[in-house]
Amino acid sequence: MLADLRCPVCADPFTRSAGTVSCPQGHAFDVARQGYLNLTAGARGPGTADTAAMVAARAAFLAAGHFALIADAVADATAHAAGLVVDVAGGTGYYLAAALGKNERATGLCLDLSVPALRRAASAHARAAAVGADAWQRLPLVTGRAAAVLSIFGPRNADEVERILALDGVFIVVSPRDGHLRELVDRLGLIGVDPDKARRQAATFARFDQLAEQRVTYPLALDHAAALAAAEMGPSAAHHDAAELARRAAHLPDVLEVRVDVSVAAYGRSVGSRSPL
Ligand SMILES: C[S@@+](CC[C@H](N)C(=O)[O-])C[C@H]1O[C@@H](n2cnc3c(N)ncnc32)[C@H](O)[C@@H]1O
Ligand SMILES: [Zn+2]
Repeated sequence: MLADLRCPVCADPFTRSAGTVSCPQGHAFDVARQGYLNLTAGARGPGTADTAAMVAARAAFLAAGHFALIADAVADATAHAAGLVVDVAGGTGYYLAAALGKNERATGLCLDLSVPALRRAASAHARAAAVGADAWQRLPLVTGRAAAVLSIFGPRNADEVERILALDGVFIVVSPRDGHLRELVDRLGLIGVDPDKARRQAATFARFDQLAEQRVTYPLALDHAAALAAAEMGPSAAHHDAAELARRAAHLPDVLEVRVDVSVAAYGRSVGSRSPL
């Protein structure tokens, strides 16, 4: 796994000695007690990283299996990737673990900016490592090394995905469709899907060839705790105070019927970009 990584400061390879990895230029990064390697040290602050409360809510929601069918679709889409699977803004590593569980030839790398997420991702799967990295900066990875890149409900930097993806690699993108968790969004006054964002992202992907797209949609019954966790793990948590969200959740019916509605799309590097140089 270390051979896949590059120093975020100078792009040289790393060597490891005890609990530290370092490059020949002397840039050194400590492996955290929980097992992740934070390569954002010295960079900007946490910025858009999920907070500990958001990560705890997401971990609880995912552990309950509410998005298991999305994880199955992601795992099916990467079942033939032989080599490194990189989950960019991978959070707790939930989808990466599902992908590795269905593919013994794959190893995984979960990148995220959030330390609480990295702490969990470090133990998400025996064949996965967790590395702190900012999706908007140069990723600390060897060019062309990833057999698959996952981008699931997270920030996506097409330039860097294209750079790290192998020529025959697959880029899996999960994004919410218009009606995704609509009932919850409406009842709790959450931030919904921005249709402009979807259009902007489609333009970003124009450089890739779409290989397949699957719509994953199914009904979900959420009790109060699950509904609150779904609200607390999303972008709305940063804009509402927790007590206000809990107050609104208390007015929900005992069981709220919502619909999961996401797109799971697979892209390849476009033939035009496969230069022999
Ligand atoms: C909506 S969550 C999705 C997490 C995971 N893909 C999942 O679906 O469970 C967005 C994730 O992006 C991470 N994130 C936000 N800004 C980031 C950035 N600039 N670089 C890397 N990760 C970032 C957050 O910490 C969070 O874990
Ligand atoms: Zn260096």
